Amino acid sequence: MLTIRQLGDTFGAEVLNFTISNAASAETLQAIKALWAEHKVLLFRHQSIDEATLVDFSRRFGPLEIHVRSEYLSSHFPEILYVSNMTDNGKPLGILSDTEVGWHYDQIYLPKPAVGSLLASHTLPPNGGNTEFADMGAAYAALPEATRQRLAGARAVQSYEAFNRAYSVPTNDEQRKRSPDIEHPIVRIHPITGQPALYLCPGMTTQIVGWDPEESAAMLQELFDWCVQPRFVYAHEWQDGDALLWDNACTMHRRDPFDQTHKRLMKRTTILPPDALAIPV
Ligand code: SIN
Repeated sequence: MLTIRQLGDTFGAEVLNFTISNAASAETLQAIKALWAEHKVLLFRHQSIDEATLVDFSRRFGPLEIHVRSEYLSSHFPEILYVSNMTDNGKPLGILSDTEVGWHYDQIYLPKPAVGSLLASHTLPPNGGNTEFADMGAAYAALPEATRQRLAGARAVQSYEAFNRAYSVPTNDEQRKRSPDIEHPIVRIHPITGQPALYLCPGMTTQIVGWDPEESAAMLQELFDWCVQPRFVYAHEWQDGDALLWDNACTMHRRDPFDQTHKRLMKRTTILPPDALAIPV
């Protein structure tokens, strides 16, 4: 039986007695999936995961995305995206290399957006580079009823380009074609728990569809400020051997700055909903 330790006030749990491996039984996998849905962010400590295991284990949660930023993928396993400030023969090894990375939902810009991500630490700086998560289900539940009513049925534009402008380098023409701006409902219903969550983020959400631009900007700012109150946030301080599995349907995340004279390399898989690969890209 799996045992856990609570991490944040409303969400997040460390799974104390599980080693990520291909040998996990179907029953254990079911138990992990139930914990993932319930706690939204799962921490596994003291792991030593090679790339093949990272891919095989992640795939048991759903099909894996091949990230549009092909320049940052593992050369052996294209399902793995490197997040890093390191270089390889003078070329950046990973995405999101510099300073802070703002609040975002992974792959919110896809027609069938990601349901989860598994991030395994490889090389960590001595300080900083922490990853914060916001519980967007709890944030939605705590909203005043009048705000929830104003948002009912609303949709918002999600823009990977806006994120790149703020936190990364521009995509090339081909990549831009594969990641156009897209609209999604502002409230996402969790596919397993049925819990509604605010589905917007400062990094990628640019406009509430059909709203006057000033009203839209004011409402988005109000919601962004609301969601990142300390009562909804869990900040993860990485240790060697940590891996985090988070829910991309109801949590957004950001990364702290860190001293760029130190190296940081993380390896991420992105988990899609079961029917996602039926969508032509
Ligand atoms: C990510 O935003 O997917 C990566 C976060 C991190 O590197 O901590």
